[in-house]
Amino acid sequence: MAPREQWLLDFDWRFAFGNGDDPAKDFGYGFGQGDFSKTGDFKIATSDFDDAGWRALDLPHDWAVELAPVHDDSGDDDTRLTSHGYKPLGRRYPATSVGWYRRTFELPASDRGRRIWIEFDGAMRDVVLFVNGCFIGRHDDGYTPFRFDLTDFLNYGGKNVVALRVDASFGDGWFYEGAGIYRHVWLTKMDPVHLGRWESVVRSTVEGHAATLALATMVENESEHAVQASLAWSITDAAGRVVAHATTPAQAIAPHASADCRTTAHIDAPMLWSPGEPHLYTALVKVVVDGATRDAEQFPFGIRTAAFDPDRGFFLNGQPLKIQGTCNHQDHAGVGAALPDRLQAFRVGVLQGMGCNAVRTSHNMPTPEWVAACDRMGMMMMCETRHMSSSPSGMQQLETMVKRYRNSPSIILWSIGNEEWRLQKGALEQQGERIGAAMVERCHELDPTRVVSAAVNGDNEQGVSDALDVIGFNYNLKYPDKFHREHPGRAVYGSETSSAIATRGEYVTDPGKNTVNSYDGVVPWGETPEQWWSFYGSRDWLAGGFAWTGFDYRGEPTPYGWPSVSSQFGIVDLCGFPKDYYHYYKAWWTKAPSLHVFPHWNWAGKEGQEIAVWAYTNLDEVELLLNGKSLGVRKVPRFGHVQWKVAYAPGVIEARGRRNGQVVLVDRRETTGAARKLRLTADRREIAADGQDVAMITVDVLDGHGRPVPTANNKLAFRISGAGRLIGVGNGDPNCHESDKEPRRSLFNGLAQVIIQSTADIGTIRIEAVEEGATGSSLTPASLTVTTRKAAPRLVVA
Ligand code: GAL
Repeated sequence: MAPREQWLLDFDWRFAFGNGDDPAKDFGYGFGQGDFSKTGDFKIATSDFDDAGWRALDLPHDWAVELAPVHDDSGDDDTRLTSHGYKPLGRRYPATSVGWYRRTFELPASDRGRRIWIEFDGAMRDVVLFVNGCFIGRHDDGYTPFRFDLTDFLNYGGKNVVALRVDASFGDGWFYEGAGIYRHVWLTKMDPVHLGRWESVVRSTVEGHAATLALATMVENESEHAVQASLAWSITDAAGRVVAHATTPAQAIAPHASADCRTTAHIDAPMLWSPGEPHLYTALVKVVVDGATRDAEQFPFGIRTAAFDPDRGFFLNGQPLKIQGTCNHQDHAGVGAALPDRLQAFRVGVLQGMGCNAVRTSHNMPTPEWVAACDRMGMMMMCETRHMSSSPSGMQQLETMVKRYRNSPSIILWSIGNEEWRLQKGALEQQGERIGAAMVERCHELDPTRVVSAAVNGDNEQGVSDALDVIGFNYNLKYPDKFHREHPGRAVYGSETSSAIATRGEYVTDPGKNTVNSYDGVVPWGETPEQWWSFYGSRDWLAGGFAWTGFDYRGEPTPYGWPSVSSQFGIVDLCGFPKDYYHYYKAWWTKAPSLHVFPHWNWAGKEGQEIAVWAYTNLDEVELLLNGKSLGVRKVPRFGHVQWKVAYAPGVIEARGRRNGQVVLVDRRETTGAARKLRLTADRREIAADGQDVAMITVDVLDGHGRPVPTANNKLAFRISGAGRLIGVGNGDPNCHESDKEPRRSLFNGLAQVIIQSTADIGTIRIEAVEEGATGSSLTPASLTVTTRKAAPRLVVA
């Protein structure tokens, strides 16, 4: 029998809305209580059901992002909707809160005898699965992966029908969470003698110039016969060279029993994983019975040490390293929670551009490809579970997270939750102690190599904090010094900081327009980037911290409500376009000289009025000039910025940054002319023809001299032809209600984003942008091509 195969089951699904209230609109589901009385009764999961009228789509899919926002301030509806971005989800919106997915596929007769699982990386939120008329199972949280063994239910050598009812009436959090099957689905075929799920672990110990690898896994025998199973491990480096081997002697495993198998290997002069050099190794482990490989799995891992020291902060590979982190939710412009894999890497790249070296997966178990991108690209991670609870379901979520990701070198810290007021102090403080202790203990059992923390908004003196290995403070700069003095043995970092707010490209806080200025906007409980980083950056004993947030996200439209639908906390907007704060971090989180002067210099009508001009830089001093005339030199305070008041006159403001008296960098903002010409720029001009890869297209508009116009808000339309399709658009405006899915979008302060996905065809994608509805002096259109090249072969369910 062939060893394990993992087939991607993302393509060619059918989708229709069901209904949370009315069984007649829910394909008869729940007419009475008899639905589940006999096995095989679910016609919707048989070939007799006609889904011709259903919509064809590919996964991952988030139907919430397709829904127009709703506003209803007649009752308490609005406050409930605000945090999730005003999407009509919940029991008051039965027509848009339940979705059905169907998929038919053939299985070869030769698969008979294998164990066959359907595996979901995650769905939002309550899933009921039916296969070939039979009820298979349920899953009810939005972030953990789940799977079902379909072996007994499948037709071998025939057609199979899968149907899922996904109910997003209940959410798990207080932020936009999406709806539907928003992560990948797989069909996994295995021999009855196979490795346990997420049981294979490589733990490295580095001593001197060598690493010892403790290799552990579990073999499960689901066959009717006892077997003698041995294991063969091989470790390859990034160049594909085998650098270590290990085997275990044959071991008897009774039918329906399992065996733990452990061994060790050594690597001389290992290449250590770090943000600067994210070296990965690959482990391959095979189960061998009577000379034949019955199962195998391959996974990346890294070799590195990580330690938190109460006096000296965080150490990676024995070197001090400040955590320059951001918290992030998982949604992006255009696609909501259903991110193509490549977009995860795009987002890591945006954050790395400002020197961010760590992310916190606030407040839930992340999508696998986000973790994989962090492993590959050198982004450290604090990995957080959704529910702080030692209930069976809370523990299940935690265990799944730790087992799934414990080989990932990016993860330096587990988090058992965020801001659980009652468990921190007060009403449930004693329960908090017990819940925290149980969760921390379970993390240690499953992964003795990592420390455990939680994001605590409070003094960390009691409750859940007692059990934590490392103390995380959310906000509250008043607490860490005192805590450090009184608990000198406990390591401390900022689990959540800042909550600065800014609307990209806006320089005035205008409640009439729901905008926040880009200089110093911050919520009452937060800190500006300067406030928190001068605190954390100047205390060696603090390990660093995680700013709220890297990217804007839908929901929590602080400080305004409707019509704002997205947060404004991001250091970059929902598309990943930098706000000015980005350059603050770049100045203080990267070593290369950097200088950024703002605002833009298009203030027609404000001639003679004072405009605040700021510069972020890591140079010694900055001189500002307006139209060639010096407005003075300012010394740059450590972790600070410099600023001037400038009477506006059109022309050029120029900042000259000096180090040791020499001009090292110059940054300018020029008054532009009117917008004349559109421009399209792709992050990559060649992508894989695999139906999944994406190119991220930036749209901007230039004046007659080729200068980007920072204030342009033109309405644009896009045409995509050839070997690709448009999967989403955005512009980073937190107040914009234009569709994320239609081929049109307004620029917001000069920028928009179009996300283009390949099909399976090798060829060219042509993207055209035109001004919509303009007559006469419309903008000159732009076009761009992206090539799609042959993709690496992979197993995809036809
Ligand atoms: C924190 C919370 C985050 C977000 C943030 C906004 O208290 O952990 O999820 O709500 O506030 O400032």
